[in-house]
Amino acid sequence: MKVNGVSYRSIWRDASDGAVRIIDQRWLPHDFRIAVLDSLDDFAAAIRDMWVRGAPLIGATAAYGVAVQMARDPSDAHLDHVHAVLNATRPTAINLAWALNRCRAALRPLHASDRAGAAMRLADAIADEDVEINRRIGEHGLGLIREIAAAKPAGEPVRLLTHCNAGWIATVDWGTATSPMYHAAEAGIPLQVWVDETRPRNQGALTAWELGSHGIAHSYITDNAGGHLMQHGLVDMVITGTDRTTATGDVCNKIGTYLKALAAHDNGVPFYVALPSPTIDWTVADGLREIPIEDRAATEVSHVQGRDAAGGIASVEVTPAGSGVANPAFDVTPARLVTGLITERGICPASRAGLAGLFPELASAE
Ligand code: MRU
Repeated sequence: MKVNGVSYRSIWRDASDGAVRIIDQRWLPHDFRIAVLDSLDDFAAAIRDMWVRGAPLIGATAAYGVAVQMARDPSDAHLDHVHAVLNATRPTAINLAWALNRCRAALRPLHASDRAGAAMRLADAIADEDVEINRRIGEHGLGLIREIAAAKPAGEPVRLLTHCNAGWIATVDWGTATSPMYHAAEAGIPLQVWVDETRPRNQGALTAWELGSHGIAHSYITDNAGGHLMQHGLVDMVITGTDRTTATGDVCNKIGTYLKALAAHDNGVPFYVALPSPTIDWTVADGLREIPIEDRAATEVSHVQGRDAAGGIASVEVTPAGSGVANPAFDVTPARLVTGLITERGICPASRAGLAGLFPELASAE
């Protein structure tokens, strides 16, 4: 997508020097900065400390991490080491293990001297596939938005609500939950997007930055506002992303997603999840009990980061000294609360049968 008129992906291999570059999301939405990832430490820190974030982008970053490391040392031992180090960075998004396992399975049978080139081609392929998957999710989601728009008086906006940032910077491009929005905007359908702040990391500010850059009308709201807006008929549809969806359709996504699904259910608002197939964990049936939920640092909750009056990035404490703090980063929305899953192959019910119907070859491989 474009930033200040220039097309970017969120991660890319630069033609000028072959280095892997990312949009460094620690500084957004205030500063647009680019960083080079080179050492294994760089890649691990980038994922763990959220210079990059969002399930699909985490997977693509890990694949590039393997590729850069294979150029340094293509031995079996190093391949296993890189896999272990990167796989330990964040526990919840399945795309991380999906990408690392795919890389290791492809590289293992190769002679060591062939691994560096093959690993880079595979990382490029994973990135390209992600872009195409998300483009297709956008096309399928656009169908839903068109249906809502068609039932409204001409010119009245379709009102969507989204949580966290499942936008183009959470993927390689297009985003998952935002891809239908970008497609709708291109099709000339007026939108009004309610953007959940998404404390503690305020990923909603990233979504607001994205939508603002693309001229899509939106309002940044507190995490507690969605239920009220739904009660007053101000939300036509909720679309979120996912970090791991079980074979039975339970959806693990950013903390607070479950509460939005409950409110949507209570108010008859359709609740859709944009789901790229690499985010399906076919080995898990019970999301609540089987998906590891990341616990992040207490300071993410006790402090709020923002831009100060002088234009610098400042962090201020909001909790009293001595208060305990808990910071679970994800929650699980049971399949029964999900109206449908928007995948690259179409929309299906959040169920084993629904997913297996669209992805029979993946379902039967487990
Ligand atoms: O902790 P984050 O910012 O990596 O969490 C991101 C989310 O929860 C997204 O909604 C999810 O990864 C889907 S991204 C297309």
